[in-house]
Amino acid sequence: MSEFVKVAQKQETPIGTMKEVKYNEESVCLANIGGKYYAIGNICTHEGGPLAEGTLQGFEVECPWHNARFDMRTGEVLSPPAEKPVPAYEVMVKEDGIFIRKIK
Ligand code: FES
Repeated sequence: MSEFVKVAQKQETPIGTMKEVKYNEESVCLANIGGKYYAIGNICTHEGGPLAEGTLQGFEVECPWHNARFDMRTGEVLSPPAEKPVPAYEVMVKEDGIFIRKIK
C-alpha cells in the first residue's frame, strides 16, 4: 500500500471547488463535495484535459475539453468520449492538512 502524502491545506479547497494537486509526480484533481474531500487523476484519459479546470456537479466532474464525465469517488468514466478510468486516491484529513494515497 502506498504512503499518504500531504497535498493541500483544507482552506485551499472550499466546498464545491476543485484544485490540481501533486501526488509525487502525478497530477491529481482534489474536490471538496459537501465538506468531504475526493481525489482522482487530473489528466483526462481521452486527450489529457485538466479535470480540475472542468465543472463539478454532484459527484461528477466534467472534462473542460470535450465533456467526458468521471466519478470523483472511483475515477470511473460516466460519459464518453473518454473510455478508460483515471486513478482513484484515498483521502485522509488530519488537522488542517489533506493527505492522499493511490488506491488503484
Ligand atoms: S480530453 Fe477530456 S474529454 Fe477530451
